[in-house]
Amino acid sequence: MQELTMPINVKNIIDLEKTALFLGISTATARNWVKYGYLRTYTNDKRYFFQLSEIENVKFDIENGNLEKLNGRANKLKVDRIFIPDEYLQDGVNIDDIIKIINFVTENNINISIALLLLSLNLLQKEKVISNITIQDLISQNFVFTNKQISEEIKAWLSEIKINNIKSDFAFLLNCVIPKQRDTLGFLYQSLLPEGKKSQKGAYYTPEIIVNEIIREYIKKDSKVFDPCCGTGQFLLAFADVVENPKNIYGVDIDGIAVKIARLNILIKYKNQNFVPNIVCKNTLFEIGNYDFFSLNDENIRDFDVIATNPPWGVHFSKSDIYWLKTYFPEIASLESFSYFLKKSIDLLRDDGVISFILPESILNVKTHKDIREIILQNTHIKKIFYLNRVFKKCFYICY
Ligand SMILES: C[S@@+](CC[C@H](N)C(=O)[O-])C[C@H]1O[C@@H](n2cnc3c(N)ncnc32)[C@H](O)[C@@H]1O
Repeated sequence: MQELTMPINVKNIIDLEKTALFLGISTATARNWVKYGYLRTYTNDKRYFFQLSEIENVKFDIENGNLEKLNGRANKLKVDRIFIPDEYLQDGVNIDDIIKIINFVTENNINISIALLLLSLNLLQKEKVISNITIQDLISQNFVFTNKQISEEIKAWLSEIKINNIKSDFAFLLNCVIPKQRDTLGFLYQSLLPEGKKSQKGAYYTPEIIVNEIIREYIKKDSKVFDPCCGTGQFLLAFADVVENPKNIYGVDIDGIAVKIARLNILIKYKNQNFVPNIVCKNTLFEIGNYDFFSLNDENIRDFDVIATNPPWGVHFSKSDIYWLKTYFPEIASLESFSYFLKKSIDLLRDDGVISFILPESILNVKTHKDIREIILQNTHIKKIFYLNRVFKKCFYICY
C-alpha cells in the first residue's frame, strides 16, 4: 500500500465513502483495493483519503478493461451499483449534496419515479413555478402552478404512481439542496439509476460542454430541431438556448421517466409560454415516421433542419426487435444501434439539413460498420469530424 501525507489542496480530496460510491464498490472492497495497492491513499490520522483525479483514472481503467485483476469484481458490482456521472458534474456543484440524496433514496428504498417526481417539485419550487408544497398537499393534489402545462405534467405523473407509496418521511426530497446545473433533474436521474439499467438502455447522457460545442454552429432561432433519443434533454436544452419557438424542438426517447424530465426541462426553460412540448415516449426506430412526425405513414417528407444526438451504442436487441429491424432497415446488417439511429435521422432530415452524432471511432474503419459507412457516403456530405478525446476517449462527433 502506498501512503502519502495529506496534500494542501483538499478540494480534490475525497474520503473512503465517496470513493467507494464513485467506483461502485463497497467501502470494505475499497479498503481491500488499498491493501492490494490498486488505490493510493492519503492518510490523515486513521482515515483514508483519495485524490479525485486518481480515482477517476482508476474508474476509467476499470470501465475500459485496463485493470484486468479488477474486471470481474467491478463488472459484478457494476450492475446494481450507483455511479455519480462525474463527467456530467458542473463546476461549483457540491458532490456531498448529491450523495445525501442518493443515500436517502437508497436507504428508504424509494421507487425511482417517486424520487424524481419529488425532486422535480423541489426544482419547480426553486424556479418559483409553484409555491412551497408539502407531501400532504401533493397527496391531496392541493397545489397551484403558475404554468398550466407544468401542472398537467405533474398531475399526469402523479396518476401513474400509487399515492400510498408516497410517505410523509420523503419530505426531505421536496426541500433538500439540489445542484444547480443545466439539466439538474437529468443529472439526478443518472446518479440514481443503477449502472446495469443504464448500460441496458444505453442511457449515458452527454455533458453540457460537449453538447454546446456540437450544436453551436448549426442552430438558428427559427430552426426545426430534433434529438431522436433525447434522454432527459441535454441536446433539447441546448437547442432551446437559440430556438425561439419551443414547438420547433422535438424529442423522442423510449424511457418514460427521461421523457417526463425532458418535457419539464423544456417547459421550465420557456416557463412564460403556454405550449405542449413535442417530446414523446416512443421507440424511435419503429414508431417514428417521416410524414406526420409521430406516425409511420409517409416515406417522402424530410423536414428537420438539425438532428443532433448521442445515440445508444451496442444495445442488445430482443428477438422480436431484430425481426423488425431487419424488416425496416434491410440495408443494415450489423445490428448496431447507432447505425439504425443514424439511418433514421438521415430519413428525417431536410435536404440541406445537418446531422451531428457522437460516435465511436470504430465507425470509421471497422468492417462491421461498412453498411452505415456506405449509407453515409451515398446520402450525405461529411462536413466535419471532431475528436472528443478530452471527455469521451476514442469518440468523435460527425456532422453531415
Ligand atoms: C446515450 S443516451 C443519450 C441521451 C441524450 N441524447 C444525450 O445525449 O444526453 C441514449 C438514449 O437513447 C434512448 N434509447 C435507447 N433506445 C431507444 C429507442 N429505440 N428509441 C428511443 N430512444 C431510445 C435511451 O433511453 C437513452 O436515453
